Order: sequence, then C-alpha cells, then structure tokens
Amino acid sequence: MEVIRAKSAGFCFGVKRAVDTVYEQVEKQMGKQIYTYGPIIHNEEVVKDMEAHGVKVLRGEEELKGLEEGLVIIRSHGVPKRICDLMDEKGIEYVDATCPFVKRIHKIVAEESKKGSRIIIIGNPDHPEVEGIRGWAGENVTVIKNAEEAEKFENTTSERICIVSQTTFNYNKFKDLVEIISEKGYDISVLNTICNATRERQTEARSIAKEVDAMIVIGDKHSSNTQKLYEICSRECHNTYYIQTLDDFDMNQLRSVETVGITAGASTPNNIIEEVQNNVRINF
Ligand code: F3S
Repeated sequence: MEVIRAKSAGFCFGVKRAVDTVYEQVEKQMGKQIYTYGPIIHNEEVVKDMEAHGVKVLRGEEELKGLEEGLVIIRSHGVPKRICDLMDEKGIEYVDATCPFVKRIHKIVAEESKKGSRIIIIGNPDHPEVEGIRGWAGENVTVIKNAEEAEKFENTTSERICIVSQTTFNYNKFKDLVEIISEKGYDISVLNTICNATRERQTEARSIAKEVDAMIVIGDKHSSNTQKLYEICSRECHNTYYIQTLDDFDMNQLRSVETVGITAGASTPNNIIEEVQNNVRINF
C-alpha cells in the first residue's frame, strides 16, 4: 500500500510558534503558574498535555479580571487591545504569541482608524481572531460575513474605508464581498490579509484526495479548518475518514484499498499524524 502524507498537514507557522511558546515558558518559569488566554489551539489532546504540564486555561475576560498573579500567554488568534491594557493595568506579566500575520492586521486597523478610516473586517464575527482584530480597530468598525451583509452596508459618514480580512477567510468569497462593497462608490482601500497556509493546505489535500482510494483527515471535531478539509476531501474521494486520533480509526476500513492519503488540520500535532501514518504502514 502507498501512503501519501500531505506536506502541509498539521500545524501552520503561527500555531507551532504559539504551542512552542507555551512549552518554552513551562521550562523557563519554574514554579510560576502559566495560563493561556483561551485554549491555545482547537485540539483536546494538546490542551490536555499542557494541563498535565501545569498550564491552566483562562476562559475569558472575567477570569482574567480575577487573576492576581501568574504569566498569561496570548494564543495565535490574538486578543483585543483592551485585554492587553487590562493585563498592563493589573501588572500581570504576559507573553504575546499572536501570529505575526494577525499582528500585522492589528497594526493596519489601528493605524487606519487613527487616520480616521472606517474599518471593515471580512470574516466571521464570532471567531476569536475577528474579535481580536475588532478590538484594535477603534469605534468605526463593521464585520461583514456574507453577501447579504455586504449589500446592506452603508457608509453613514464620508470616511474613507479600509477593508481587511480574517486570515482564514475563503479568497473567492472575500473577492466577491469586496466587489459588492466597491460598487457602492465609496473611497476604499483593500488589503488582502488572508494567510496562504490555509489555501495551500486545502489545495494539496484536494489534489491528494483526487488520486487515492481512501483519505484520512485528522483533527479536532471542533476545528473549523479540519471540517473544511474533510468537506474538500470527501468531494474528491468517497472513502474519506475524519478522525481525532488513531483510536477513532478502524484499520479494517482500509482492507481493500491500495493508496491512502493523509492530511490534518492546522491544530493537529505532528505526533498524532505520525502515529496514524505509521500504523497505516505497519498494518498493510
Ligand atoms: Fe498565522 Fe496563517 Fe496560521 S495567520 S496562525 S500562519 S493560518
């Protein structure tokens, strides 16, 4: 049997950096309580392992307000400016592991809003990354997630508009929404802030799924980018399986196949991918 593992499977640069930061701090800060602001990534296994290393998860602003000491790590999604201000006011030490690509968006929206622009974020308003970007964009900020909202959008003032995107937003959808807003004739500047890591992972998964008899997609059930990968792969390969770890997988399902593809979401650790890959190889 041939096993093809996607090169882009697993942690993207920003997630790897955030996870590494946690373990580095665990080693460095002997005895100090370490917190992550929200689960560091959408992966139960990783969060459990961090808990085993003594790391606790802060579940939002209220818990942060109650904190007296310790070290807080900001995850790759980033946080609104007020969260950093709150930690500064309370004198709580923190390490900012916001992905540099997300940090760049914070910088853009902060500067543009200072210049008096209205900010539009194309993205999902409930996603923590978008909440974070919003929190750096000043008062005049609108989040638009679909065509209906783009149609309805009205610039009530004569301000210039600066459009940015959630890093994981679909590029074609972003283009369509920008087009709808552009047609309204406002003074607009558009910055495509979509990160290529997601698109590259999806493109590679699609091309592998087209060629194999079975495809395994590994990732947490709550990870939206893994769900998207599963969707893409299932369209190309009917034998596509969505698993969190090796335990979820019945190897008998591969009895009659000759080629297997493996990919994984952005929050799936390498050891979980390798375990699946090795077991598929050993069993056949
Ligand atoms: Fe950063 Fe792109 Fe990953 S924005 S967190 S490298 S998906």
